[in-house]
Amino acid sequence: MKPKVYLAKVVPNEVEEYVAQHCSYQMWPVDESISREKLLTEVADVEGVLLVGHKIDQELLDHGPSLKIVSNISVGYDNFDLKAMKERKVLGTNAPTNELNETVADMVFGLILATARRIVELDHFVKEGKWIRGMSYPALFGLDVHHTTLGIIGMGQIGEAIARRAKFGFEMKVLYHNRNRKAEAEERLGAQYCSMEDLLRESDYVVVMTNLTPETRKIMGIEQFKLMKKSAIFFNASRGETVDEEALISALQDKRIKGAGLDVFQKEPIDLQNPLLQMPNVVTLPHLGSNTARTRGAMGMVAAQNLVAGVTGQVPPNLVPELK
Ligand code: DGY
Repeated sequence: MKPKVYLAKVVPNEVEEYVAQHCSYQMWPVDESISREKLLTEVADVEGVLLVGHKIDQELLDHGPSLKIVSNISVGYDNFDLKAMKERKVLGTNAPTNELNETVADMVFGLILATARRIVELDHFVKEGKWIRGMSYPALFGLDVHHTTLGIIGMGQIGEAIARRAKFGFEMKVLYHNRNRKAEAEERLGAQYCSMEDLLRESDYVVVMTNLTPETRKIMGIEQFKLMKKSAIFFNASRGETVDEEALISALQDKRIKGAGLDVFQKEPIDLQNPLLQMPNVVTLPHLGSNTARTRGAMGMVAAQNLVAGVTGQVPPNLVPELK
């Protein structure tokens, strides 16, 4: 008999077919998040579940006594209560892919260009009929990106993909801060390792790309924003909780930094009352850094392979290190 699994997210056809070859399955049918209550019901008699973003805690594990594996269709796995999963011997996997690294790096560069060159603001300017022939444009000046300094906090695979674009596409100087030094990235990309403080003081563009862990929660707070140049722009494409959002809002309101590009927020979806949404110098995206069909398909397949491995007694290729 095939092992029973639940797909708590709509996946591409080829991913569904792969799962069907190895497992009997049910799939959440709509392209919006499954409710917590429904998820708790659906895990009751399955050995594996594939999902993104849902908290895997004691309560969920108690509702899924047969669970052997939770397979995330994401690189981040801050939704896992690692201690509870370890105690229950439930495997947890993520879905890192090369496609994802490149796709997220493209989007970060999109945010860099959009904020520096005020692309969203100027799009509105044109569409609102404010463009007058012959007008001079100092009020609409943007900032250069080429030949400036980029600071990357969290030099994983995505950080490296961003650094490569910066170095070879825009001839930027690249600074980085990371738990460990990356000798190979230093060699290949000319990236310079430095302290958080030096990175913040020297960079024109600061990107947070680190995983969310107890050490990186609110890694950017009041003191860190104070160190940034007044002309610098801040970006977050990691998790909303790596930034003290109140401190970011104050830094923007007090003009202590020039702008921000954000794919992630403390609360998602963001409240419409959030002051960030009123700021023309802030460009926002709905946590969709990896959202191209190709990349999402590749991540879905990696997650499905992890899921199948976990329910058929093999070691899944992307078991997260804390659960090994
Ligand atoms: C990831 O892969 O971690 C993305 O942020 C989606 O959650």
